[in-house]
Amino acid sequence: MNTDSQVNAGPPQVDLHPLGGPAARLGWGHPVALALLLCATPPLTAGAEKTAAERIEEFPNKSSLEARIHRGDIVFQHYCILCHGTKADGNGRAAKLYSPRPANLLTSDKNDEYKELIIRRGGAALARSEFMPPWGDELTDEQIKDVIGFLASIQQRKP
Ligand code: HEC
Repeated sequence: MNTDSQVNAGPPQVDLHPLGGPAARLGWGHPVALALLLCATPPLTAGAEKTAAERIEEFPNKSSLEARIHRGDIVFQHYCILCHGTKADGNGRAAKLYSPRPANLLTSDKNDEYKELIIRRGGAALARSEFMPPWGDELTDEQIKDVIGFLASIQQRKP
């Protein structure tokens, strides 16, 4: 309820919260804000010591295990996490919709050959759940190899 005394209670209170307070209302042209901005900006010379060619040399070789795992991680994050989860532990957002649940790929007891089969042909072809889709037409051979390499890299139990 607004009484007269509340309405005429003087100037509005200053909000001292760090994000909503007066500092947040400073324009970037304000000297203090500008100084903060300059402090937060890394020196322009950072990283400039190396030539572009030197930086490219630091990239893992395309056929290295490191590169394969990195690409496989990307495949996994695009195609598999809805069911198997971002951590591959079988707890994806859609996991509870399926019975049997999507496998926990961290503790899978299957070897790479079996994984390749089920990834290519899907669960139904191996008398498993039809909800494990066949990816053979969707993914390239390289993507399948990469995602198996990625799974091996996060495997917690050796088959
Ligand atoms: C629509 C949900 C779904 C998606 C998407 C999915 N899977 Fe599956 N996956 C399953 C289910 C369900 C099972 C368990 C099948 C069973 O137990 O009968 C399974 C099982 C597996 C298995 C067998 C593991 C074991 O230990 O037996 C592997 C390997 C696998 N999935 C890999 C993948 C990969 C790699 C992708 C992405 C390219 C993927 N899955 C995408 C649902 C899915």
